[in-house]
Amino acid sequence: QLRAGSSRIMAVLVLDIRNPFFVDVASGAERAAREAGLGVMVCNSGQSAQDEADYLALFAEQRVRGVLLTPVDGSGRDLAALRAQGIAHILVDRAAASEAVCSVSVDDVAGGRLAARHLVSTGHRSIAYVGGPSGLDQVRDRRVGALTVLEEAGLGEDALVEVSAVGLDVAAGRDAGARLLGLASRPTAVFCANDLLALGVLQALFAAGVRVPEDIALVGYDDIEFAAAAAVPLTSVRQPAFAMGQQAAEMLIEETGPQSAAHRHRHVVLQPELVVRQSSMR
Ligand code: RIB
Repeated sequence: QLRAGSSRIMAVLVLDIRNPFFVDVASGAERAAREAGLGVMVCNSGQSAQDEADYLALFAEQRVRGVLLTPVDGSGRDLAALRAQGIAHILVDRAAASEAVCSVSVDDVAGGRLAARHLVSTGHRSIAYVGGPSGLDQVRDRRVGALTVLEEAGLGEDALVEVSAVGLDVAAGRDAGARLLGLASRPTAVFCANDLLALGVLQALFAAGVRVPEDIALVGYDDIEFAAAAAVPLTSVRQPAFAMGQQAAEMLIEETGPQSAAHRHRHVVLQPELVVRQSSMR
């Protein structure tokens, strides 16, 4: 039985506080918390395992009501510590691997399939994949989904050209976009693991005079607010980020409320949706 902290503050630990995706997740959590008379404290792990561990220790010390977190990587090591201290926690944006932890996530394999199916159906046969750190299950699943579509279309694995990204932000997208332009045979389309990468790739292509979508089609992931407002409105795979945060917070409130029954293991998996804003037939 997870012990509810005595506090009326719920901690939300995000991977990148500057990413609008996590702002939307935190906003949904804040809405649910406020409706239950609680507040949220948003902290940033910045994808650092040490920062994540430091914050989880702080949350335990402060006896917060519970924690919503997107773990830094697949290890789940800190979750064991959280469980040992009886701190209620819900994973967000990542399906929990163990029966002991609840989670709210999106089917990212389905999301990767949506992106690749859109590009294949508009005639693209060579697609660059700009993915962030492969240690993130949710990012890895997007690539897996895209690969399955290419294989089903009879295109070999080399139809998905890997362009590594050093992170999941706009700067990493600019860097990946510059390397994409240097490829000997340039793909006709790019699928990015999230919208910040796609916005960075867009900037690099613009700077090189490459037009989107006329010369290269571009698909992002998350459908953050800036995707629609970009110089070329982005086609993106939408994650219901606000709903993820809201439902995770509601689960945590239920788990730690006075009437909470024995821990009920729940994995809520929400569905992604393709939002087409620009595309080019090949
Ligand atoms: O959580 C990892 C990534 O998945 C974040 O960058 C966010 O954009 C989501 O898409």
